[in-house]
Amino acid sequence: MSLGYRINRIWVNHENCITTDGKGKQTIVRTLNINSYYQQHVLHHYNRFANLYDLGEFIRRGTRRKAMSLSGWQPGECVLDLCTGTGDMAITLASHGANVIGIDIARGMLRRASAKSKNVTTSWLEMDAAELAFADHSFQISMLSLALHHMPVQTQLQVLRELCRVTSRRIVIIEPDIPVKPEWIPLWTFVASVIDESEHMHEWVRQDFAATCQIAGLKVESIHGTTFGLHRIVICNP
Ligand SMILES: C[S@@+](CC[C@H](N)C(=O)[O-])C[C@H]1O[C@@H](n2cnc3c(N)ncnc32)[C@H](O)[C@@H]1O
Repeated sequence: MSLGYRINRIWVNHENCITTDGKGKQTIVRTLNINSYYQQHVLHHYNRFANLYDLGEFIRRGTRRKAMSLSGWQPGECVLDLCTGTGDMAITLASHGANVIGIDIARGMLRRASAKSKNVTTSWLEMDAAELAFADHSFQISMLSLALHHMPVQTQLQVLRELCRVTSRRIVIIEPDIPVKPEWIPLWTFVASVIDESEHMHEWVRQDFAATCQIAGLKVESIHGTTFGLHRIVICNP
């Protein structure tokens, strides 16, 4: 499998290329298929705020530990962290000895991940989660954390199908949980949209996510609430 080019410890998608001017200066030319409005929004937001993202990590830490334990990861297994962001889920697993690859479309987020992971073995790749450049069943375990609620449902389905294709044993998905009482939903959605910048939060709160998983071909095994009801962890079999 060709991963492409490695720049500052980040592998750039194999469809990108590097041009060299007369003085030998190298420029990366992006040929990732960034054509949807949602992808442009994601890139604009996450490349700009990559340095601030980790300020909220103290809220997510407990969820990550629980997700790692529920993944049933075993030594020697390959783990994919899809939409890895600044890499904390991948680093949590790698610091326990897992062999992890993290992918994301936002290079600013990957740079942070790379800078934070000097003491653990991880690889960072710039790649679209909806079009993975991996062979079928390349990973035993895949993680997907806090990314699907940023995507339109059609993109979620593409991403989940890809996840199913490249994973052989277990898929762990973390997403925001929704308050059970219907009267709290409008306030929750407003606050969550402001904090999270997701343009799809209004659809997400009404989405039957277990049904979305099933349509994409995933078998939902169990669902776990965590971190005072802020997150839910969905365990699926491909
Ligand atoms: C809220 S952050 C979550 C990051 C990380 N998984 C975590 O748990 O902290 C969402 C991430 O998904 C990435 N993302 C969104 N759409 C993507 C796509 N189609 N392919 C790859 N990454 C994507 C964004 O760039 C961003 O880094």
